[in-house]
Amino acid sequence: MNLQAQSYPGIFITFEGIDGAGKSTHINHFARKLQEKYPNKKIILTREPGGTDLGEKLRTELLNQPMHPETEVLLMFAARREHLAQVIEPALMSGDIVISDRFTDSSFAYQCGGRGISVTQLNTLENWVQGRTINGQAYEIQPNKTFLFDLSVEIAQKRREQTRTPDKFEQLDTNFFNLVRNEYLRRAEVFQNRIKIIDASLSIDDIQKIMDLEVGLL
Ligand code: TMP
Repeated sequence: MNLQAQSYPGIFITFEGIDGAGKSTHINHFARKLQEKYPNKKIILTREPGGTDLGEKLRTELLNQPMHPETEVLLMFAARREHLAQVIEPALMSGDIVISDRFTDSSFAYQCGGRGISVTQLNTLENWVQGRTINGQAYEIQPNKTFLFDLSVEIAQKRREQTRTPDKFEQLDTNFFNLVRNEYLRRAEVFQNRIKIIDASLSIDDIQKIMDLEVGLL
C-alpha cells in the first residue's frame, strides 16, 4: 500500500547505488524529462547527505573526517532529519516532486551492509526520523520510487579512478563495496514495488531510454 500517496500530494523519488555506478549523471536528464511531462509541477533536486546548510556542513565532515561507525550513522540521520524538516516534507505537502540523490537506502547499504551496524538499530532511527502522524494515522515518509543503479564493484572502482579524487567512502576496498552492493540488492528484493534496478553497465544512451520509459510510468 502506498501510504504516502494518501498522506500528502507530492511525489518522492530517490536515486541510489554504489559510488561510481553513475546515478548522478542520470538525475538531471530524468528531472528534465519529468518537468516536460509535468510542466506545472515544481521539481526539487536535492541530495544526501546534504540538501540544507547544516546538512552540507555535516556532509563535509562525513565524507572527510574519520569517525566511529555509530557516530557516522547518527550524523547521517541528523542531516536527514533537517533535510526532511526544511526541504522534503514542505515540498511533498505542497504537491511538489522531490528527487533526492540518495536517502535512507544508502544508510542501510553503507552503514548496515558496509560498516556492520545492526538493521534493528537502523530501523529504530528510520522510524524516529521518518515516522509521522497525520490525521491520527501513523506512517513513515518513504520514497514512492527508487532507482538503484547496480554495477559490479570492479567496474565502479575503475570509473571512480578515472573521474575523481576519492573521498573517505570511495577509499574503502572492494570487500566493503561488495557488502554495500549486496545490501542494496537485498533491499531491492524486499521492496520490489518501490525499488527498480537499473543495469548501470549499459551505455548512457540506453540508460536514458530506460529512464524515459520510467518517466512515462510516473
Ligand atoms: P555521493 O552523494 O557523492 O554519492 O556520496 C555520498 C557518500 O555518502 C557515498 O559514499 C555514500 C555515503 N552515504 C552513506 O554512507 N550513508 C548515507 O546514509 C548516505 C546518504 C550517504
